[in-house]
Amino acid sequence: MKVYIDGELFDGAAARIPVCDHGLLYGDGVFEALRAVAGKPFKLAAHLERLTHGARALQLALPGGTAAMREIILRTLAAHGGGDAYLRLIVTRGDGPLGVDPGSCPRPRVICIADQIALYPEQKRAEGLQLITASLRRPSADVLDPRVKSLNYLNNVLARAEATRAGADDALLLNQRGDVAEASVANVFVVRGQRLLTPPTSDGALDGITRATVLELAPQLGLACEERTLGRMDLFAADEVFLTGTGAGILRVRALDGAPIGGPEPAGITERISRAYQELRARS
Ligand SMILES: Cc1ncc(COP(=O)(O)O)c(C=O)c1O
Repeated sequence: MKVYIDGELFDGAAARIPVCDHGLLYGDGVFEALRAVAGKPFKLAAHLERLTHGARALQLALPGGTAAMREIILRTLAAHGGGDAYLRLIVTRGDGPLGVDPGSCPRPRVICIADQIALYPEQKRAEGLQLITASLRRPSADVLDPRVKSLNYLNNVLARAEATRAGADDALLLNQRGDVAEASVANVFVVRGQRLLTPPTSDGALDGITRATVLELAPQLGLACEERTLGRMDLFAADEVFLTGTGAGILRVRALDGAPIGGPEPAGITERISRAYQELRARS
């Protein structure tokens, strides 16, 4: 693991930040997670755009702007040895006295990590995932807008922990109205015939870059797409359900709360999308 912190590169075990960083104290900051393939970060511009918008929502200045963030990602990846890597860029409010006031932190801190990640065991790619419906709901946009990829991930962490306790792989999060938002760190798609359905981000989902890529690829595969509000029933009535995310990739869902999703046959459309996505990543 290689870690960039405020201009310096470290081996993972030697990377340190002060305990008075408001990212640690209050979860005050934003982050992005990307994958590099053959030394090139996939969809870098889209990730930087999401980071910029999130930082703006928190009135957090990106030191050196978007161009500097791009350079830091590339520098950390190069220090890691290029190739295939998982990259995480984090911008915290920086160091300050105790107390939530962001105005007390003069300088945001930039951290970039280059490493590997495995969100689920490899055999899950073939088997598909078992989900539970989380008992916690996704906060609505007037509490904390889920479209901001902030350092506050407790809602996601607790949902995933609940899934693990229940012997499942991940959790489906509903919003305050009881509609589907997303999984703990992935967006949700329903396949119905030749159509893909996914909740709008205003239903409590992150504006996922993988989600956007699937929406781009689908018409090329002859599939129609629609963003629309979905309930749990739409998952039970689906031909296939899959999750999308930078960490997760594209993964079939096999069951929700113990009830099977789709039929026993291979998930043809999920497979086609997954292949198209991997090909796009490989040639980008
Ligand atoms: C809450 C949440 N939803 C969805 C996603 C998927 O987004 P992306 O495809 O940009 O990785 C992530 C990724 O980390 C996430 O944290």
